[in-house]
Amino acid sequence: MSNLWARHKILETNPILLVIASLIVVAIGGLVEIVPLFYLKSTIEEVDGVRPYTPLELAGRNIYVREGCYNCHSQMIRPLRDEVERYGHYSLAAESMYDRPFQWGSKRTGPDLARVGGKYSDEWHLDHFNAPRAVVPTSIMPGYPWLARTPLRIDDLDDHLRIQQALGVPYTDEMIENAAADAVTQGQDFPDDEDGFLERYPNANVRSFTAGAETTGKLTEADALIAYMQYLGTAIDFDLYDDRTNIR
Ligand code: HEC
Repeated sequence: MSNLWARHKILETNPILLVIASLIVVAIGGLVEIVPLFYLKSTIEEVDGVRPYTPLELAGRNIYVREGCYNCHSQMIRPLRDEVERYGHYSLAAESMYDRPFQWGSKRTGPDLARVGGKYSDEWHLDHFNAPRAVVPTSIMPGYPWLARTPLRIDDLDDHLRIQQALGVPYTDEMIENAAADAVTQGQDFPDDEDGFLERYPNANVRSFTAGAETTGKLTEADALIAYMQYLGTAIDFDLYDDRTNIR
């Protein structure tokens, strides 16, 4: 024993050796934490219902990022009682597995949006984006009235899907080929290719999200952002999920 301490003394009395030895120990600890992340595919539990975003939702998500909504809104319900009671089931890792980049956020000037899908009508969202204080008199959220006036760019949606595919989101070549057409399909009431679209993106909301799309047939940025809002947090049927895993 005293022999061991004597050897340790060599380290303790030699600062350079101590630094090198410490670095080796820290490097081993780092590897143990980092290496599993390269095998994330197998560490995130897949959950039924979670699918890649539709092209229209993805376009809405891009607008969400462009407008900086994440500066005031998080998308991550923590497993704390007050959050679960206010927002619903806490967020699962699988729910953001196709988010590139993720939108968990760290600032909550406004409410968490992880489960805002289905909470309000499409009209409510449109009015709220146009003029937040028209629907929530005390709101400090800025208005985004140009969204409903700005035509949605859809000709580059295939490129957006392709990039997501390169990052590991399982978009098929068929989805990429149909990206622009699928955006138009999703944003209409009773579109022609509804069946094909729903086969590619199960449980997607298909309807005109704004009155504009209904009358002119032209999508605006508001259509895309509302399609995205209405999907958030709706992918998993938690009644089914909880029965199976008893998670709550
Ligand atoms: C300056 C901070 C701020 C920014 C930026 C902001 N919001 Fe908000 N948001 C709020 C606040 C505060 C509320 C709560 C009051 C209200 O409902 O308007 C809110 C409420 C909301 C709600 C209703 C949530 C609920 O559960 O009631 C939605 C949806 C929403 N924001 C979406 C967005 C989107 C999309 C963007 C980007 C285009 C955005 N917000 C940008 C502050 C912000």
